[in-house]
Parts: sequence; structure tokens; C-alpha cells
Amino acid sequence: MRWAIFSIILGLAATSKGETLLYRNTFNDTSALHGWVAEGPVNATVSNNTLTLAGAGGPDDYFVYWLPEVFPDRIRIAWEFQPIQEPGLAMFFFGATSVDGGSIFDPSLKPRNGSYPQYHSSDIRLLHASYFRRRWPEERNFHVANLRKSPGFHLVAQGADPIPSVEDVQGAYYKIEVVKDKREVTFKVNDLLLFSFDDTKSDTGPVVRGRRIALRGMQPLIANYRNLEVWKL
Ligand SMILES: *[C@@H]1O[C@H](CO)[C@@H](O)[C@H](O)[C@H]1NC(C)=O
Ligand SMILES: *[C@@H]1O[C@H](CO)[C@@H](O)[C@H](O)[C@H]1NC(C)=O
Ligand SMILES: *[C@@H]1O[C@H](CO)[C@@H](O)[C@H](O)[C@H]1NC(C)=O
Ligand SMILES: *[C@@H]1O[C@H](CO)[C@@H](O)[C@H](O)[C@H]1NC(C)=O
Repeated sequence: MRWAIFSIILGLAATSKGETLLYRNTFNDTSALHGWVAEGPVNATVSNNTLTLAGAGGPDDYFVYWLPEVFPDRIRIAWEFQPIQEPGLAMFFFGATSVDGGSIFDPSLKPRNGSYPQYHSSDIRLLHASYFRRRWPEERNFHVANLRKSPGFHLVAQGADPIPSVEDVQGAYYKIEVVKDKREVTFKVNDLLLFSFDDTKSDTGPVVRGRRIALRGMQPLIANYRNLEVWKL
């Protein structure tokens, strides 16, 4: 497992909470994106310890950008987010497997190119948290963050989204933290809880476990990401 090698290289860094660092990307050099898998047109650039993601296709072509690592269940994922061009929408995919629990990159699965139905109603199982939802007018006049479970496009949790519009960001970065602890999920921005979810309390199919995580963007969003970390609980 490559994440195990990572944790050895990083000296088994641990927090006071007893967590172990599995993956850290400070986007500090050109190798930072080695092994990432893009589905759909994306322009990913790394400079000044920052990953900048922008759609590289037409107005309706979105992207999913998978990390190169496979993760266990029971993790905490944290990163810093800064929207720099709106409208658009940001999303975080986690716990992604094929519907039978295998790899999402199994060649027998249907092809994917960033188009949302291929992720929410097809042959993969995952959770997806959307935030900075500014793509459509109804998203812009009431700012919420959503958690959906797939397959099935089930809306399983929702909360108010405190991230402001680009003109009020003024250089700020927002610390986003997702905890995936077996059946329980929490989503925080700057330590403020937006929503939580208990996967045993919904009639939405098998509980999502570990595996793949990804960043997703909807045009014409441009956003900066920094200090991406995954900790084992
Ligand atoms: C980038 O950061 C990693 C640790 O996150 C470190 O191992 C590596 O040496 C750094 N590279 C540069 C060019 O500073
Ligand atoms: C890709 O992104 C970089 C940095 O944001 C930008 O300078 C460049 O113009 C973009 N390229 C394309 C083809 O959009
Ligand atoms: C690089 O990042 C630092 C720290 O966030 C910031 O203060 C500085 O303005 C950035 N420089 C450029 C050229 O974006
Ligand atoms: C992605 O695939 C869908 C069909 O599932 C197609 O309609 C769409 O044009 C494709 N988008 C790109 C950018 O290739």
C-alpha cells in the first residue's frame, strides 16, 4: 500500500489525538501531482505551495481529480480552500469504490469523463460533499453545503455554507475538514460544523467504507487548494 510507505517516510507523524498521517501534499514542487487521475478537462497547476484547479473544457464540461492513494475507512481529511473565480461549485468525493466494493479503476466499469450522472447514478459507490455551490441561480440565492450518497443521488445531509462570495474572500483561505469514521461523517469549515451524517440511519444501500478520494469542480470555478492532509483516526 503506497499510503503505508508515505506514513513511514513522514516519520509516522501523530497528533495528540492519536491520529497517524497517511498523506500530505503541500504542493511544493512539480512532482506534487504525480499519479493524480483526471476525469474530464482540468487545468491543474502548482505554484507557491498552492494547487490551482480550473475547468479546461466548455461551460458544461466538469472534472473529477482523483488522488493517487487508496485510503482506509476511519480517516480525517483536511485542506485549505480559496475560491478565486465564480460562479461554479466545488465538491469532495470520498469512500469511492465500485458498487461491488472493488476499485473504481476496474476496466469493466463504465467510462467516466466528469459528467455528474456517471458518479451519482452508475456503477460506483461513494459520498460527495458539495460546498461553495454557486453554479446555478437557486444555489447562489441560498448557500448550503450538501452531502449525497451514491449510487442513487441520495441527499443525506445539508447545512448552511459560511464561505462568502469571491469579492469578500479578500485573500482568505477556508480550512475544510471531513471526518469519515465508519458510519459517521462530519463536515466543517474553519472548525464550524456544517452537517453530520450517520450511514446506519438512512435507507440508501450499503455503508460507504474507505478507498478513493477526489476533488471536483464545476465550471467556471477557479479555486486554490493548500495543505491537503489525510490522517488515520
Ligand atoms: C515538499 O514537501 C515534502 C513533504 O511534504 C518534502 O518531503 C519535500 O522535500 C518538499 N520539496 C521541496 C522542493 O521543498
Ligand atoms: C492554466 O492555469 C494557469 C494558472 O491558473 C493559468 O496561468 C493558465 O493560463 C491556464 N491555462 C489554460 C489553458 O487555461
Ligand atoms: C504565495 O503564498 C504566500 C502565503 O500564502 C502569499 O503571502 C503570497 O502572496 C503568495 N505569492 C504569490 C505570488 O501568489
Ligand atoms: C462526457 O460523456 C457524456 C456521455 O456520458 C457526453 O454527453 C459528454 O459530451 C462527454 N463530455 C466530454 C467533455 O467529453
